[in-house]
Amino acid sequence: SGGESGGDVTTITPGTAPGFPPFEMKESGELVGFDIDLLAAVVAEADGYELGSWQEYSFDSLIPALTSDKIDVVAAGMSINDDRDETIDFTDPYYNADQAILVRESGDFSPAELADLSGHKVGSQSGTTGETVSKNLVEEGTLKESSYNSYDSYVFAVQDLENGNIDAIILDLPVAQTFADQRPVSIAFTYETGERYGFGVREGDDDLQSALNEGLAAVRDSGQYEELRNEWFGG
Ligand code: ARG
Repeated sequence: SGGESGGDVTTITPGTAPGFPPFEMKESGELVGFDIDLLAAVVAEADGYELGSWQEYSFDSLIPALTSDKIDVVAAGMSINDDRDETIDFTDPYYNADQAILVRESGDFSPAELADLSGHKVGSQSGTTGETVSKNLVEEGTLKESSYNSYDSYVFAVQDLENGNIDAIILDLPVAQTFADQRPVSIAFTYETGERYGFGVREGDDDLQSALNEGLAAVRDSGQYEELRNEWFGG
C-alpha cells in the first residue's frame, strides 16, 4: 500500500465535525469514532496517500473548508446528495441512514408522524439533512418558523431536549440510537430518507477519489470494515 513502491506520498488533511456519536466524538479530549478509524484504515490501503492531522469544524463549515483547501477530505457522516454534489465530489457510499425523531424518555410528548410535531419546538444541526426535513416542515406550515431551533452540534440539541427547551430533534437514525443509549431520550419514530454517507473530496481531485474508493473496497474485502462496524455499533 501507500508509498511502498517508492513513489511520492501525498499527505491529506482530514476534517470532521465531532458531536455525532458514534461516527465522530470527543472522549477525554480525544477525537474518536467510526469515521475516524474507517478513514485511517482506508487511507492506509490507498496508494500514494497518508493521513495528516484531523481538523475540527462545525458541520456547516466543512464544505467551505474543503473548497478553500484547508482540508482535503471530509469524514463526517456526510450524506451524498445532489446539492452537495454540485460543489464537491464523494467517494462510494460507506454507510446507510434514515432520519429519526428523538424525544424525552419521560414520554410527555410521543409523536407518531411528522404532522404531530405541529405546535411543538423542534431542533436540528445546522446544515444537515435533518435540518432540511425541519425546514420543509416550516415551509409547508406544519412548524412555525419560531418553533425551529438550529444547533451547531447535536450534543447541544440533546441538552435542550433534556431540559425541555425543545420537544423533539430530527437527526440521523444511528446517531439517535447512540444518544438514546446514553441519555434520557428515546426514538419516537423513524422517517425514511435512504441516505448514504460518503467521504467528500474537492471536485476534480479524481486521483484521491479513486484511491479512497480502492481503499474502501480493500477495507471491505479484508474484513476490517466489518470489524470496525462491530466495534462501534455493537454486534
Ligand atoms: N448525515 C447528515 C448530513 O449529511 C448529518 C451529518 C452530521 N455530521 C456530523 N459530523 N455532525 O447532513
